[in-house]
Amino acid sequence: TGLWAVVPAAGQGTRFGAELPKQYLKLNGKAVIEHSLDALLGCCEIRGVAVALKADDPIFAELACATNPIVRRITGGAERAESVELALASLSEAQDGDWILVHDAARPCLSQRDIQMLLAKGRAHPVGALLAAPVVDTMKRATDQTEVAETVDRQVLWRALTPQLFRYGALRDALKYCREQGLPVTDEASAMEHCGLQPLLVQGSHRNIKITYPDDLLIAEVFLAGANND
Ligand code: CTP
Ligand code: MG
Repeated sequence: TGLWAVVPAAGQGTRFGAELPKQYLKLNGKAVIEHSLDALLGCCEIRGVAVALKADDPIFAELACATNPIVRRITGGAERAESVELALASLSEAQDGDWILVHDAARPCLSQRDIQMLLAKGRAHPVGALLAAPVVDTMKRATDQTEVAETVDRQVLWRALTPQLFRYGALRDALKYCREQGLPVTDEASAMEHCGLQPLLVQGSHRNIKITYPDDLLIAEVFLAGANND
């Protein structure tokens, strides 16, 4: 069975608030998305990477990684799930039983160790898997009035990270089903869950942050500088 990757990179970076979308901001001399792609490209098993971009994105084509022969560009959609669905459709050589890694362009601190651990554990699971990290803060459920209703048991709560690993055919079908039913899909695992499936949680590094706000770029700089003594 083959292994492929999808990188959703068609977002605007509204919360970050920079002029450029956050995936194109410089981080230790390279664009954020180049770090994310280079991590995937470091995994030799991957046969092709479909990168979902905004229509008429003028920036990606100028990056060094755009010339890699296994990288292909496609136009994404208005929602992340739509971008992923369109990217999957562009991987026309993929077989239903092949595995797909979906990784956010906005997560530049992905380690080879986490990729390999996800592949090993996820491919041994009937549904597939996602990298995840246990929550560290005490969690509160709010009332409608924004007061505390209760404290939620932290032991069973995880933060979903990427990459997430699923079978090509199953993920394609799950995303289509959720779109047709109008179900919310914020990550690939949630699409599988809507189909009654239970993906495996694989504990990944807390350094695999998503760049969301300007401070995240400073934190990522430190993590990348220390990437070899993780
Ligand atoms: N993404 C995408 N297509 C969309 C929306 C998001 O491919 N229509 C991608 C983003 O480029 C990012 C990843 O999905 O790599 C995670 O999304 P998020 O962190 O929400 O990024 P943005 O949507 O760009 O940021 P914001 O929500 O602050 O606007
Ligand atoms: Mg978004």
